[in-house]
Amino acid sequence: MANTKNIETIALHAGAAPDPTTGALLTPIYQTTTYTQEAVGVDKGYTYSRAGNPTVSALERRLAALEGAEYATCFSTGLAATTALFLGLLKAGDRVVLSEAVYGGTVRLLREILAPFGVIADFVDTSNADVFRTAVERGPTKLVFIETPANPTLKLTDIALASELSHRANALLVVDNTLLTPVLQRPFDLGADVVLHSTTKFIEGHNATVGGALITPDRELHERFDYVRKSTGTIQSPFDAWLTLQGAKTLPLRIRQHSENALEIARFLEQHPQIERVIYPGLESFPQYELTKRQQSSGGALIAFEVAGGTQAGIDLMNSVKLCALAENLGAAETLITHPASMTHSAVPAAQRASAGITDGLVRLSVGLENPADVIADLESALERRVAVAHSA
Ligand SMILES: Cc1ncc(COP(=O)(O)O)c(C=O)c1O
Repeated sequence: MANTKNIETIALHAGAAPDPTTGALLTPIYQTTTYTQEAVGVDKGYTYSRAGNPTVSALERRLAALEGAEYATCFSTGLAATTALFLGLLKAGDRVVLSEAVYGGTVRLLREILAPFGVIADFVDTSNADVFRTAVERGPTKLVFIETPANPTLKLTDIALASELSHRANALLVVDNTLLTPVLQRPFDLGADVVLHSTTKFIEGHNATVGGALITPDRELHERFDYVRKSTGTIQSPFDAWLTLQGAKTLPLRIRQHSENALEIARFLEQHPQIERVIYPGLESFPQYELTKRQQSSGGALIAFEVAGGTQAGIDLMNSVKLCALAENLGAAETLITHPASMTHSAVPAAQRASAGITDGLVRLSVGLENPADVIADLESALERRVAVAHSA
């Protein structure tokens, strides 16, 4: 590939070259378990597909290039990547400081699976600089894990500050960049050591696969992640890697459009009399709007909001929409509407949900690629139907 820093070109070309034997433009799906060896101890870099696979390698090269780092390791899911991160870097007694509003599965992994092995997880409001500093300095801190924007409250954490605090405490900084992707946010430029992705979301982008990745410029960390993946058996399948390679080609185009559509829909929600509160990092009313402008190139695709009338009103809306799909997941071409308290974040203890601002009435919208006018019409008529039902009751 020509040497370029332009992300649109990287998304299309990085990591792949025409197949030398056939000229096939697309990287083939290497659907094979094993690889013949020329002699004992002499192989072509692949021995068994739990350890490595050429289609997965092509995706790894592309994801590393997109984030502007040297190395990536791809996993069967985003949570498999999170698991490998913690298993690879923590041992009993080690402490990790995390954003209190992170994906619910990350919370469950630490609280239910790793805590019995002695890993200590402190969930704090990393959007608050004083609270964050105190938690990291209380130490010893081995790892700092932030998700920004945080799912689903969309609170931002200042990545440059996180990097300064982590490195002063001799801790590594991990950024879950799933919600914005390298197109809208560049964690390595701000000092991150590792970037995590659920490629299930925007990177593959079509609701067709599950997958995850750990990306780093550090060779030793990369080797550790590869080793944990081989030892725990969590590599991505070649077919899912291939689909993700195709999805990644249009990532820059898609995520900018997702974000543009989301801003239009957030503006509609903000002026609607039945909407009590809209949280969207691209709105001037967003409490951390200054940080949005400094750290991300646009607001992203997620909107969180509350319908006037509380939890039941939000649930009624989610049950009434017709175009928006009521489903878990985010970051795909179709607009998805989700109730975090009962769906994506049900594994988070109620007290942590309350403290993180994940109210029972919070609705999360992952804005897709439909014409935004159609999504607005769907939300508008669902809100009208809700009022009609309330009046007739
Ligand atoms: C921000 C974030 N990180 C990680 C994950 C976990 O990814 P996966 O569902 O691919 O295991 C999710 C899933 O929703 C997520 O939203």
